[in-house]
Amino acid sequence: MENTVVIGAQWGDEGKAKITDLLAQNADIIIRYQGGCNAGHTVVVDEKTFKFHLIPSGILYKNKLCFIGAGTVIYPDVLEQEIESLKKDNIDLSGLKISPLASITMPYHIDIDGYSEDTAKGAEKIGTTKKGIGPTYTDKISRHGIKVQDLFDEEGLSKKLDLILPLKNKELTHVYGLKPYTKEEITSLCQKYAKIIKPYLCNDWQKIFHEALEQNKSILFEGAQGVMLDVDWGTYPYVTSSNPVAGGACTGSGFGPSVIKEIIGVSKAYITRVGEGPFATELKDETGEKIRNIGHEFGTTTGRPRRTGWFDAVVAKYGALVSGLTSMALTKLDVFDTFDKIKVCTAYKDKRTGEIFDYYPTNVNIHEFLEPVYETHDGWKQDITKIKTYDELPENAKKYIARLEQLMGVKISVISVGPDRDQTIFR
Ligand code: GDP
Ligand code: IMO
Ligand code: MG
Repeated sequence: MENTVVIGAQWGDEGKAKITDLLAQNADIIIRYQGGCNAGHTVVVDEKTFKFHLIPSGILYKNKLCFIGAGTVIYPDVLEQEIESLKKDNIDLSGLKISPLASITMPYHIDIDGYSEDTAKGAEKIGTTKKGIGPTYTDKISRHGIKVQDLFDEEGLSKKLDLILPLKNKELTHVYGLKPYTKEEITSLCQKYAKIIKPYLCNDWQKIFHEALEQNKSILFEGAQGVMLDVDWGTYPYVTSSNPVAGGACTGSGFGPSVIKEIIGVSKAYITRVGEGPFATELKDETGEKIRNIGHEFGTTTGRPRRTGWFDAVVAKYGALVSGLTSMALTKLDVFDTFDKIKVCTAYKDKRTGEIFDYYPTNVNIHEFLEPVYETHDGWKQDITKIKTYDELPENAKKYIARLEQLMGVKISVISVGPDRDQTIFR
């Protein structure tokens, strides 16, 4: 397999984990490169469901190296739960490797994220997962973060805490009215975190990466979230705090752009979004409810009902551009099996002026004035969940796929017709 990046091409939950798991069969190394336990990645194998938050979706195969990369943020308590749950299922974790450069989510990050969300009003509300993601990345960028390697450097950590903790406590008490932490509390927590991470700590990642390149090993980069949640390219400020676009695979993994050959964007046959922010094709009616119920659109991480809507080709074209997609994987096509009519948004219209946008307007403030321009397709009214080849798909399903390809300017190379590994059509 060529070195491949799998990213979400919408607002997350596109089915990236299912595609990553499938491709991981032919990869030697799988790397999660950004995000943290805000991600909820589901893999279904022979009707057994696995849910990952931090551990790469390739872990179900033996003899693969699965990296939690430098660009990620790790909340060790969630990591521990995930490790324990996989051990119970007898999954071999000997290939799990954690970058010493990844950032640690501390309890105060969780406190601040929770407090900010709970007290936010109106437009301030982002609808985060409250997993401390934003505050952890904020500290990383402001150079007040704790990295994995700090947990194993007693003296360095002590000095760092002397610098960071007084500031953090001022922020916690004065800005948020929250409880401060003592150095002893944080130090003992860091010792606990070090114990959780130690069996997987990978200090010789440079050697492993050099060898991988020399021996032409296959590398699979697993993205979390999606293009439209990217902190630079998404619907800012209604985004996450990392770079889910394909470029994030390089900064978050330690491999350069020249190593990557394929970039697969994963899109649902419709769109969902959890949390706040513009969503042009959102359906707040019984059709939206129908998609939610058939597609089981409830968050893997938070259980929140996902907002649902028609496929938005403007978003898809935008995602294809900013991530340089070489192909697309279209998931959940089966969710439309009972639909008479299926709509696709081809552009937006400004209700005030009649202006048509066929590119994505990045200023979220104008979205309240935009309405989607739709075209309508006939459904196929047939169960497609057992179909194994493209040729067997109903004509109307093929027409729908061909039209999406035309609108996005990207080939759909994988079609998913159910959650299970074997409910997948490769073209
Ligand atoms: P991720 O975050 O992108 O990995 O996606 P999630 O795991 O959060 O959400 C995708 C959900 O859709 C999971 O429950 C998958 O098991 C399920 N899924 C994936 N592909 C398909 C598909 O083609 N059809 C159906 N019906 N479900 C799918
Ligand atoms: P996967 O990898 C869907 C959303 C949150 C919120 C915004 C910011 O499973 O696709 P954060 O906690 O990151 O600060 O929240 O981003 N969000 C996701 N939505 N799938 C995800 O991950 C998400 N991770 C974060 O709902 O709107
Ligand atoms: Mg998810």
